[in-house]
Amino acid sequence: MSTSEAWKYLEPKIANIQERIFELEWEPSRRNNFVPYKADGNTAYVFVEGQRLLMMSGYGYIGLNGDPRVVAAAKAAVDEYGTGTPGVRALAGTIPLHEELEREVAKFLGRESALVFSSGYAGNVGVIGALVGAGDTIFLDKLDHASIVDGAQLTGATLTRFRHNDPGHLDRRLEATAPGGTRLVIVDSVYSMDGDIAPLPALREVCDKHNALLMVDEAHALGVIGATGRGIEEHFNYEVKADIKVGTLSKAIPANGGWIVGEKILMDYVKRFARPFLFSAALAPAQVGAALESLRILDREPERVSYTQREAARFRDLVQQAGFNTGDTETAVVPLIVGSNDKAWDFASALQKGGVVGLPVISPAVQPHMARLRIAITAAHSRADIDYAIDSFITAARQTKVLEG
Ligand SMILES: Cc1ncc(COP(=O)(O)O)c(C=O)c1O
Repeated sequence: MSTSEAWKYLEPKIANIQERIFELEWEPSRRNNFVPYKADGNTAYVFVEGQRLLMMSGYGYIGLNGDPRVVAAAKAAVDEYGTGTPGVRALAGTIPLHEELEREVAKFLGRESALVFSSGYAGNVGVIGALVGAGDTIFLDKLDHASIVDGAQLTGATLTRFRHNDPGHLDRRLEATAPGGTRLVIVDSVYSMDGDIAPLPALREVCDKHNALLMVDEAHALGVIGATGRGIEEHFNYEVKADIKVGTLSKAIPANGGWIVGEKILMDYVKRFARPFLFSAALAPAQVGAALESLRILDREPERVSYTQREAARFRDLVQQAGFNTGDTETAVVPLIVGSNDKAWDFASALQKGGVVGLPVISPAVQPHMARLRIAITAAHSRADIDYAIDSFITAARQTKVLEG
């Protein structure tokens, strides 16, 4: 690196990361997090360095990535609108397809209006920043996604964390907060590393008691929970509602983008105050076309959701019977918790040698000694794929002493 004085304080940080990379990725199988993956069409398989592997850690919950209808819609959008947009949404970047997608998202989720962002991350940063600022208080679940934490930190509001999925602790936190200002409680509907679900009715009760707004991030709930994949409110039989719902178009929906739904007056407000909406390029036409078609397919083919829910329940039962620790999962996201980072790497390497990808999630991304393979069941997995994966998990776990036997 340059020896210039300007790099003096940054250089040790960069050198330190080089050391960490060396420690972590000292053998080729440990590099799989950054290795390029190539999808094998509309299947659950991927090619990694020429080898065809069964992917068990992908987010494509309803099996639509590579679906010919979605691919055709993305191509048609490019044919009609080109590959980019000429600006941000507020300055010539809005195309008719953005508005069509927003109408479709709102209709699918039963709200008056919607707004789409260029990613789920941008959506969280934008929405939180538009809703609160100095003088307000944000209450975050300890396991909230990084985009929520980052968005909250940028606002200048007071930040408070409460214990994961613990409405009693939230209640005490709200009780202890001085009156005045907006109080915004934000939770993930489904936690991406654990697969458990936020207790919406109990959270609603606590928020109502303390005049707090409740915002849910449906990134891993859309297409995953609720009988027809409409997320956490449907999961709890529409007993209660969240005040603000956001999500992504990059998990069950195989595109890019983030969304918020709510009343039109709220959208009109967010549109004018969410900085990533105002100062970052609009969602590209191919992504809008793919998202729109995928959402329509999700609406027409709810059996994709019920298949994944059924197969995920069967998968959870079988891996639990085999002795795996799956934490508190209730969804298609199933962690296989193994303990140390090294154990997770060894388990993942052994698994990959048997033709299956299960990606390790290690500390500091999760608590120390809670390293895991984060598995996701999708509609692209056949029953035979899932059975093969379970056998492979058991074999690899025995080889690496994750399981006895
Ligand atoms: C809960 C949650 N929110 C937001 C995001 C960000 O979404 P995107 O990848 O579309 O930026 C993610 C992505 O991993 C997520 O898991």
